[in-house]
Amino acid sequence: MTGVGIDGIEIHTGKLRLDLPETFAPAMGDSPEKYTKGLGLHASSFPDTYEDIVTMGANAAHRLMRRKGLEPDDIGRIDVATESAFDHSKPVSTYIAGCLEDVFEGDFHHANKGERKFACVAGTQSIDDAYNWIRADRHRGRAALVITTDTALYARDDPGEATQGAGAVAMVIDEDPDLVELSTEQGYGSADETDFLKPQQQFPSVDGKRSVNVYLARMREALVDYQRVGGTIHAEDFRLGPFHTPFPGMVRKAALLAYRHITRDTDIEDELAAEIGRQPRSEAFDDDETYREALSEYTDALKETERYRSWYDRTIDPTLDISRRVGNWYTCSVHVARVSGLKSLAEDGEDAAGKRLLVGSYGSGAQAEIHVETIQENWREEIDALNIDEQLADRYELTFAEYEDVHDAHNHDEDAAVEEFTTPDSEFAFDGWGRMGERKYRFVE
Ligand code: CAA
Repeated sequence: MTGVGIDGIEIHTGKLRLDLPETFAPAMGDSPEKYTKGLGLHASSFPDTYEDIVTMGANAAHRLMRRKGLEPDDIGRIDVATESAFDHSKPVSTYIAGCLEDVFEGDFHHANKGERKFACVAGTQSIDDAYNWIRADRHRGRAALVITTDTALYARDDPGEATQGAGAVAMVIDEDPDLVELSTEQGYGSADETDFLKPQQQFPSVDGKRSVNVYLARMREALVDYQRVGGTIHAEDFRLGPFHTPFPGMVRKAALLAYRHITRDTDIEDELAAEIGRQPRSEAFDDDETYREALSEYTDALKETERYRSWYDRTIDPTLDISRRVGNWYTCSVHVARVSGLKSLAEDGEDAAGKRLLVGSYGSGAQAEIHVETIQENWREEIDALNIDEQLADRYELTFAEYEDVHDAHNHDEDAAVEEFTTPDSEFAFDGWGRMGERKYRFVE
């Protein structure tokens, strides 16, 4: 059976940059280290006033289709995953298809379009839908376009404000892919949770501390569920572990617990026993509290071992580099982590074809999904074609007062007329409102 997976990928960052330790922290009365060391974040990307989820998604998709030599007829499906939709009926994919039809010959009239919602995990779910559609042989030889796009803003003074970001990722899902092939096996951890939600409101209601624990619990369940179908996971089986990254500090916590879980009853636990003892087993304790204390002590000691540190530096740290510079992009975040990791392998000149990734996606509300990806022969050309470094370097640097204006400009409840900070160039831009309240766009040459 031919493999199915991600054939190509493009990232578009919001064009404004807010420096967290230098600009945001002093204005909020925080220590810069809370951001750089605690959360692991250095900057956030924001959309300029002419950017939104449609322009960012369309710009990523436009670049991707041009680079891969794709025409609208080659695409049989367009799914957009977002937590920032502005319409309860008309999906963002129709707006993006409309934009793309302005710059390509032909149209997407025979492509199935939709919008996927399950917080940040919706992008991975859209990839799953595309995978199933191709595997079911309903695709007529065509590829699927999956676009994740978010303006991840929190209300002013919400603790989540520190983790904001905005950008889009476009991916082509196809047979015989150039970048990564997806495993058939998947594991899920899913439960009805009220940790982060947006009931008819633009900015989320968040129980931040709880959301961290829900992330860890659901991710653990998904890992256990994956092992039921994918078999035992060994820590050295995977070259990279791209995880959903609301902020790098979250992945730091998740990686430690995942490592503890997958090294249990393995040669690694045996080797570490002389240094930090064996992992506590619940059956050896009279009550849960003492067991949890022992587990927590073991975990603290594990974190300091050379074995764990070198695994983390090799497998996890490279996936966090872009996130540190852009903040949380919700649905895009795990896909940005994948790119970040692969980019680091490419920069090191590593021959990575055939190596595997353990991918952990997560959406609040809440659901985690674990699957495995295998790096393909042509991965290097795909990664070398990205221009994300140039985009990041070209961002306009916001002062705190300008940040406040930009936040107002994107706040649906504010009527703020804010001048654009950058000039659109060969890209889609917001072009005002239509007669039925729809948003309009144009391609600026
Ligand atoms: N030096 C070093 N570290 C410091 C520090 C300093 N001077 N000051 C603080 N820190 C550390 C803290 O110890 C903490 O680290 P630990 O958790 O490891 O202890 C970290 O920096 C953050 O500090 P606080 O906990 O004090 O920060 P906070 O209370 O202001 O908010 C947050 C943290 C709850 C995560 C908040 O940013 C938030 O609500 N974020 C949005 C929700 C979120 O991202 N949740 C993640 C899971 S849900 C998910 O993944 C879905 C999604 O995309 C939203």
